[in-house]
Amino acid sequence: MKNIILTGFMGTGKSSVGKALAKQLGCRFADLDELIAAKAGVTIREIFEHHGESRFRELEADIIAGIESDEVLVVSTGGGAVISPDNRRRMHQAGRIVNLTASAEAIQERLIGDGTRPLLKDDKSIDKIAAMLAEREPFYADADIRIDTTGKKIEDVLDEILVWLKKEG
Ligand code: S3P
Repeated sequence: MKNIILTGFMGTGKSSVGKALAKQLGCRFADLDELIAAKAGVTIREIFEHHGESRFRELEADIIAGIESDEVLVVSTGGGAVISPDNRRRMHQAGRIVNLTASAEAIQERLIGDGTRPLLKDDKSIDKIAAMLAEREPFYADADIRIDTTGKKIEDVLDEILVWLKKEG
């Protein structure tokens, strides 16, 4: 079995689904945002605040370049990790890409009150979310499977991934 790499916009459930999937498959879960924060020794918000998005993207690319493992991993990536063609190439090399999607409305609902996402800190409007989704759509579409999570529970999404994995072998 290959690594499973979850991509998708903020609030599409990558971490929750990733943890549940890893548990189900009996393998380790790695959250790239957590690894970036651990490497930097500060939170993602602080990296953005003190060093800007470009520094965050550098750290993100370094971590993605280092996804190598003897064991199978379920990996959750940050919502913007797919923007870089190099990152996408490395992710494809490292495993199978499962892209989680959700409507702008569902994303807004899930992120209400969240203070940890610098890119939506000042504006969580549907317009803003929809514009970012549209801009990133071609990058999210570069995946082995896409699963819409709108209106679904974590277990439903998990089941869809498991059915697909069984079929894929
Ligand atoms: C980002 C998404 C965040 C985090 C950073 C940038 C993005 O991850 O990597 O704030 O560009 O969409 P989540 O998708 O896990 O929230």
